[in-house]
Amino acid sequence: MDEKLSECVRGIPRLDNDQDRGGGEITRQTNETSIPRNETWRELLVLLAAQKYKKFMEQELIKIKNDASSLIIAAEHEAELNAIKLDFTGRSGKLTQLVKEVKNIPEDRRPEIGKLANEILRSVEELIVSRAQELTGRKRAQLRKMVFDTTRPGIKPHIGHLHTMSQVLRDVVDVFKTLGFQAADGPEIETDHYNFEVLNIPQDHPSRDTQQTLYLDTRGSHATPGEIILRTQTSAMQGRIMEKAKPPLRVIVPGKNFRYEQVDASHSFEFWQVEGFLVDRDVALTDLFGTIDYVLRKLMDKRIKIKFATTNFPFVEPGVDTYIECTVCGGKGCSFCKMSGWSEIMPAGMIHPNVLKAVGYDPQKISGFAFAIGLSRLVTLTYQMDDLRLLTNPDLRILEQF
Ligand code: DAH
Repeated sequence: MDEKLSECVRGIPRLDNDQDRGGGEITRQTNETSIPRNETWRELLVLLAAQKYKKFMEQELIKIKNDASSLIIAAEHEAELNAIKLDFTGRSGKLTQLVKEVKNIPEDRRPEIGKLANEILRSVEELIVSRAQELTGRKRAQLRKMVFDTTRPGIKPHIGHLHTMSQVLRDVVDVFKTLGFQAADGPEIETDHYNFEVLNIPQDHPSRDTQQTLYLDTRGSHATPGEIILRTQTSAMQGRIMEKAKPPLRVIVPGKNFRYEQVDASHSFEFWQVEGFLVDRDVALTDLFGTIDYVLRKLMDKRIKIKFATTNFPFVEPGVDTYIECTVCGGKGCSFCKMSGWSEIMPAGMIHPNVLKAVGYDPQKISGFAFAIGLSRLVTLTYQMDDLRLLTNPDLRILEQF
């Protein structure tokens, strides 16, 4: 009797007539099976043990089948399913082990339990296969959903555009390039020397008052107090460039300027200008007028009305103010043009001999003109904006309109 079997024998209850182990006649009937007459006690015990072992095997097999089935059905991934498969039907899997036990069952019960074990093994294997198919089917369906249909029209990405200032600045640079001008860049933190002195604006000159200068706090540095400022005009680059380069020169300097200004519809503490100058031999005022006229008609409407008036800037002689008919009100008068119908857009003039001297040129031989386009103003006039502040407003509803 093998080990498992003897275990089962141990659990068998004693029979009433247990004295005569030698061979008394037994007519007892169990639920499971009828016990044949004239069996010895030993045979009877073995019989009952076999009966109990069979039952135990049956129960075990059914329990394992149920456990495996519920795990297989709940498996959501192939890897999970593979682990279950290994656990139950692998070489040392629970079910495989139990099937191996079948050989220990007494011969007469073996076919019955063997059949059951094989059926259960097969049904568990089948369940694994069908669940695996289900999972791959589901995966395929998901993949199919993800397939990229190249024939479908794409989703148009939202692409922004350059800020209006940048657009107009590019146009300005392009127009001047066609006239042979080069573009230069310069520092926003400037010295009093280039911003004023070189430009014929000495310390006590009254025109400094109009330039609302912002001074940098240089305490603790080597700079002379009041020497370092935020540039108030891109004209500051005239001196820097002319000092280093020999005529003929055609230069534009786009850039930002800063002044301590009360902000309103047409003024700001920071504003863009495009400074420009040309130095050569025999440059005349008419060259300046022609250049301005050409550039403004290129940048704005060809039919735009332009007028010149005399004005005074210390670094030009004569000084000229360029006006265009106000595009916001069409010349009728509005708050933007201060009811005059005209907008000042491009101050200019013939470069003052003192400036030419300060940079080391001979004013007898060299002459030139200079101008500045109020770029912020040009943008607002081009797009008929009635307020300069719109240019620094980050609201996309505004920016997207231009
Ligand atoms: N720099 C002057 C200002 O910002 C504008 C100006 C006037 C520039 C006349 C020039 C010029 O080049 O010739 O107020």
